[in-house]
Amino acid sequence: MRVTGVISRRAFLGVAAASGAVVVAGASVDPVTKALAAGSTTTTRYPLYVPPTIDLAGITGAFALAEKPGTIDLGGGHLSKAWIYNGLMPGPTLRADRGDTARITLSNQLSEPTITHWHGMVVTHENDGHPISAISPGSTYSYDFPVIQRAALNWYHPHPHMFTGEQVALGLAGAFVVNDTEEATLGLPTGSYEVPLVVRDAKLNTAGNLVYKPRTGGFVGDIVLVNGTRDPHLNVDTALYRFRILGGANARIFRLALSNGAPITLIGNDGGLLASAVRVAQIDLAPGERVDVLVDFRGLAVGTKIMLRDLRAGWDLLEFRVAHQVSVPATIPTTLSSITNLSGPVRTRTFSFDGMSKINGLEYDMNRIDFRVPFGDVERWRFVTNGNAPHPVHVHGASFQVQSRTGGRGRLFPWESGWKDTVLLEDRETVEVLIRFASYKGEYLIHCHKLEHEDMGMMSNFEVV
Ligand code: C2O
Ligand code: CU
Ligand code: CU
Repeated sequence: MRVTGVISRRAFLGVAAASGAVVVAGASVDPVTKALAAGSTTTTRYPLYVPPTIDLAGITGAFALAEKPGTIDLGGGHLSKAWIYNGLMPGPTLRADRGDTARITLSNQLSEPTITHWHGMVVTHENDGHPISAISPGSTYSYDFPVIQRAALNWYHPHPHMFTGEQVALGLAGAFVVNDTEEATLGLPTGSYEVPLVVRDAKLNTAGNLVYKPRTGGFVGDIVLVNGTRDPHLNVDTALYRFRILGGANARIFRLALSNGAPITLIGNDGGLLASAVRVAQIDLAPGERVDVLVDFRGLAVGTKIMLRDLRAGWDLLEFRVAHQVSVPATIPTTLSSITNLSGPVRTRTFSFDGMSKINGLEYDMNRIDFRVPFGDVERWRFVTNGNAPHPVHVHGASFQVQSRTGGRGRLFPWESGWKDTVLLEDRETVEVLIRFASYKGEYLIHCHKLEHEDMGMMSNFEVV
């Protein structure tokens, strides 16, 4: 199964012109393209930053991870002040195989409490970065956990109560990739053909520093950063690429699509590989959600430019520039994974996301346990809202399977199949999922991943017993 085939020049130019995509002057730009671009503003584009990968199994002792103010180059050489992990934005990409042990020591070099949560990782309460574990400035926190779950793109970010929105907006986030043998047998693109993309919006002040302006409806930035790069481009080979995309915004939802109208092959999401690959024209990506996609640049002429766009804001996210002709064999597997469906829920719980700060009428209290879930039971969790959506609903401690959406958009989308840990709840929607906590007992969280709602209290503790 091939993804793109050859894109007709006309279709490509048509989309580029209609979308206002900017063509940067260069040797490979033909006269027609130049004419179409004439009069449009020229955007200077910067090479996409890709953080270094840290293989956690290869570390002796614990990996030292620091949250600290620093400066970063968003592109173009100007240094912007930010709060970042180990001086990088995004932080280093952590990688582990299923079965490895992760040992990480977090040091808080900020001026306020923090703790780091491994979003999507199934770990004990003590390793989960629960807000009750927050540490004061100058302190450290040691994590030590086995990686027990299937291959997936997870991520890490701060999770102290009431400071999460600020700390993430100012730059603290990174990818955490888990690999396993099932994934390895598929022969998916790897090395420089596998690229993590942390997509988020941001706000800069006049000095060019990252700033946080919380709004109850959710922080919205006016520029987009992909891997901490503004107006990024990526030189690609004529090859098949795997992009591991993370919705890293505080509140903004992206609708991803390619400017040439080519389909994107979706192979995975929050909890890892889907059962089978599916071609989609666009993907909605809410805060906390991940998608694993293949994009095929084979058969494209060197010099071709394709934009990854956000159709919601009408933003250009990342320009792919076909730069090198290569011939690398790659196939897109149709069958990816076997997913065991949860079934036969023994009880149903309803969670009403109320206003901007409550679940079932209650604001978060770090010291209150709101409900208890028996270990190993399959439960149906029903998410409803009485307004102020979107609420990206996120659960710690287990992945879930989305069963239905009624009201609102009234359907499920391909990126909501398989295993998820975050699902988007829009106004008037009821979303039902099946969930089973079968790894650890202990205290976990359910919350809205619009970080301003989370910080205001749209979060609840529960205990797996
Ligand atoms: Cu990504 Cu509880 O968070
Ligand atoms: Cu999480
Ligand atoms: Cu919310």
